[in-house]
Formats: sequence, C-alpha cells, structure tokens
Amino acid sequence: MQTNCAIELRNIRKTFGSIVANDEINLQINRGEILCLLGENGSGKTTLMNMLSGIYQPDSGEIFKDGRQVAIRSPKDAYALGIGMIHQHYHLVDVFTAAQNIILGLENEKMDLGAVNGKVKEICDRYGFNVDPKKKIYDMSVSQKQTIEIVKVLYRGSEILILDEPTAVLTPQETEKLFAVLRNMKEDNKAIVLITHKLAEVLAVSDKVAILRKGKYIGTVETKDATAQSLTDMMVGRAVTLNIDRPIYNDVHDKLVIEGLTVVDNEGITKLDNVSFTARTGEILGVAGIAGSGQKELLESITGLYPIKGGSIKFIDGLTQIELVGKTPMQIRQVGVGMGFVPEDRLGMGLVGSMGMTGNMMLRSWRNGKSIFFNKKTPEGLANKVWQDLEVVTPSTDFPVRRMSGGNIQKVLVGREIASKPPVLLTAYAVRGLDINTSYAIYNLLTEQKMHGAAVLYVGEELDVLLQLCDRILVLCGGKVSGIVDARTTTKDQIGLLMTSVGGNEGGEE
Ligand SMILES: Nc1ncnc2c1ncn2[C@@H]1O[C@H](COP(=O)(O)OP(=O)(O)OP(=O)(O)O)[C@@H](O)[C@H]1O
Ligand SMILES: [Mg+2]
Repeated sequence: MQTNCAIELRNIRKTFGSIVANDEINLQINRGEILCLLGENGSGKTTLMNMLSGIYQPDSGEIFKDGRQVAIRSPKDAYALGIGMIHQHYHLVDVFTAAQNIILGLENEKMDLGAVNGKVKEICDRYGFNVDPKKKIYDMSVSQKQTIEIVKVLYRGSEILILDEPTAVLTPQETEKLFAVLRNMKEDNKAIVLITHKLAEVLAVSDKVAILRKGKYIGTVETKDATAQSLTDMMVGRAVTLNIDRPIYNDVHDKLVIEGLTVVDNEGITKLDNVSFTARTGEILGVAGIAGSGQKELLESITGLYPIKGGSIKFIDGLTQIELVGKTPMQIRQVGVGMGFVPEDRLGMGLVGSMGMTGNMMLRSWRNGKSIFFNKKTPEGLANKVWQDLEVVTPSTDFPVRRMSGGNIQKVLVGREIASKPPVLLTAYAVRGLDINTSYAIYNLLTEQKMHGAAVLYVGEELDVLLQLCDRILVLCGGKVSGIVDARTTTKDQIGLLMTSVGGNEGGEE
C-alpha cells in the first residue's frame, strides 16, 4: 500500500432491501490528491461516501484509516477520524451566525466566541476563504453557506474532505473560487474527494478519477490520461456519442410575445429592464447570461410568480391573444405554460417525497385541460414514460421519491414537466445534477417537444450546450436584453461579449 493512502475501502457492500447500492467496492483515497468520484445517477456515490461520514454502515467489507481498520458508527466517529463530508443539502441553522453554526454541537466551545472567531479567521486565511463570522445564515448566498459548511468541517480538524456535488448550485466564478480552495487544501496534504457530474470540472481539478457503475467499482484512472469521452464510456459501460441533433421545424409562428417587461424587487432594484422578445413554436430559445442577470425573474414573471411593474406577456393561441400579466400561477399553467424549473431544494418544489413517481405525476394532472394538452396519458402511463425515457433508477413507479438518488429525483421533476407537453415549456438548469448520459436524453426530449410544435425556453449555464441545442439565444446582461442571436452562426466569444456588454455587470464566464 502507498504511504500517502489515507483511507482504503475493501469489498464494501451496502443494500437497501433488494437494492444493491454498493457491490463489493474497493477504493483508495490518498493525501495530497483530489479524487473525483464519477458515476451515473444512482450508481452509489453518495451511499459510499455516507459510509465514511458515519451516516450508513456497510453490510460487509472493511474500512482502513492510515492502514488501521476502523469502524465508523456515527458522524462523531467520522470527525474523530478526521473525516468531514459536505452534503448536498446543507445542515445550517438559519437564525444563527456563521460562527455559531461552525461550533454547533461542540459542547466545550460555546463560551468563548472570541476564540472561535480567531480560529475561523486562521482557517480562512490559510485556505483563502472569505467569511464574516458574525453574519447570519439567512443573509447568505448559496455559495457563502457552502463555505460555512466547509469551514465547519475544517474547524473540526478534518483532513479527509468529501464534497458531494458542491458545484451543482454554484456559478462558474464561484466554482473557480472553490477549486482554488481545494487546490490549497491539497497543497496542505489533505485528501479530497469530489463528486461532480461536470466532466470539464473533473478534468480541470482532479488528479485521479474513480468510476462507479450500477453500484460496482469500475476502476481509478489518472486524470492526465483521461478525456470526457473515455470517462463517459467507462461510466456507461459502452461507447456513447456526445452530440446533439438540431432539426428544423417548418411551421414556426409566434407563441409568447413579451414586450417591455420590467420588474423591480422589494428593495427597489430593477431586475428586468424593458425586456422584449418572442418565443416561437418549434423553436428552442436559449437564455444565456452571467448568474443573476435576470434569468430567474424572467421565468418567474412569465409563470406569474413575480410581481410585474410594466409590460405585457401575450400567449398566442391561434387567432386569440391571452394576456398573462395579472393572471395567477394556476391560471397561467392552465393556459399552457409549463415550467421545468430545477430548484435548489428538489423535494421542496412540487414533489412529494413519500409518494412514488405515479403519485407525483398525478399532482400535475390538469384540472380542465381538455383540449389544451395533447397528452391523454394516465399518471401511470406518464410515470412509465419518464422511467423509460430517462432511465430513472428505481425499483418501481411506486417507490418513494425521497429514497431515490439526487439525480433521479431531478429526472422525475424535469421528466414530469416535459411529459405533460405544455405548448410553452420553460426550463431552467434542467440538467443540474444529472449525469452526462441523462443530460443528453433531456436535450433530446426538449428537441422532441420542439418538433411537436412547443415553444421551449432553455435557461442554461453551459455555452457549448446552448450553442448546439438552441435555435436562437437571448442574452441577458444586468436585467436587459443585450442581444438575440442565431445559435447556428454565433460563436462562444460573441455570446461571452454580449453577456458582459450592457448594464453594470462585470466579469466573464468561461
Ligand atoms: N435510504 C435509501 N433507501 C432505499 N434506497 C436507497 C436509499 N439511499 C439510496 N438508495 C438507492 O441506492 C442507489 C444509489 O443511490 P446514491 O444516492 O448513492 O446514488 P448516487 O450515485 O449518489 O446518484 P446521484 O448522482 O443521482 O446523486 C439508488 O438506487 C438509490 O435509490
Ligand atoms: Mg448522490
């Protein structure tokens, strides 16, 4: 065994009833290295790491820390061994300050907040974090909250850090900052395990990549010898083609006509400034922009969730025009605007965790959508279609959604929206947390809807995907439309320029 090996897993097996989540897994985690753990949704990554963080115990197999066999029965045991995990769903108390959260559960340290602040500052200086110990959690952005989780783990002396999809909710700029911190930790001889589905990130930041497939360990490769294609092939177990079809639909006409849309948040800041554009049938209209340029407000305004200060949103149905401004979210849904929105809290948003896929499909059956929705499938039929199209990993359509892996929950959420076939389909960050194969399946489903004549709005982060998938791309910058371009003829650089060209926004992306 190598001397820098911090953790070794041997023949780890973990089952949930009849589901084999981890099947005889062997894995080495080394100090001074960033190891990416890669695998399709439901392949067992989170389960495996949860056995290191003391949340689950293996059915069989052995765990070694620095060559010595250990038993990890609780998160406390894990901390005592120097293992800390940053979970995808944060466990912070909103009304407490950063410092209070960092020492939460450490009985002896409650008294002296001055000393705590000093130690937090030391950790921050050492790894390059920016934390205000006195700030309350509810005042923080997602990325700041994540930073607190990481500092919390370091405060407890962790030298083996496991991060479960930390970048799924970060902007590219925030991701860069996180990676700089991870590199500093690696220099400090810590062992780091990173779970992410974004292959560009894997290639940029890791030293090695370990691959799981359907609960089994496939192997570990050196990142310098790997490519996006080779990793995908290992993950899926066969050669996969990574390209997106972009057929042309011949009966294009206006579907959603937005004019002069202006919205202001409750602090009086203009979030959308005189936004005008048209979404057409048989077209995927991409929406690009630096995070926070008004994408969220745009979708929320269209779906009736955001108060509108000025402008109009017209839904065109043959010869009739229906004004959506002033309608309730339910009325707007019934007109035919569906939203495949991917929230930070998947279970909080329109899914009932204790119900299975079928039950959750039922929640979206339309009250009086007689002729509006062409889809006449039963909830069971819809559930089966999503199950098949997106290869949802679940034993049955009645299996509680809460017990599925993160990515599979996401598949149900997005799949349900697409399968309900609304005439206008809005999607935001539809592939967050999805493995690469499923991401392409989603692109295909969106294209299928477009070829059925739907007007699709695709808010996305990856410029390469926007350029390959969409027909046109609308670029937002500081709440204004800085351009609407033909995706077939535009370059990444041109979009990048538009993303930073009007309003007060600074910085670039990719
Ligand atoms: N508490 C549980 N009860 C039943 N099954 C579970 C439970 N936790 C996980 N599973 C199952 O174990 C398998 C592996 O899940 P896991 O969450 O480890 O996948 P993952 O690789 O992290 O996927 P993702 O990329 O989607 O997060 C899945 O089939 C999942 O449904
Ligand atoms: Mg997971």
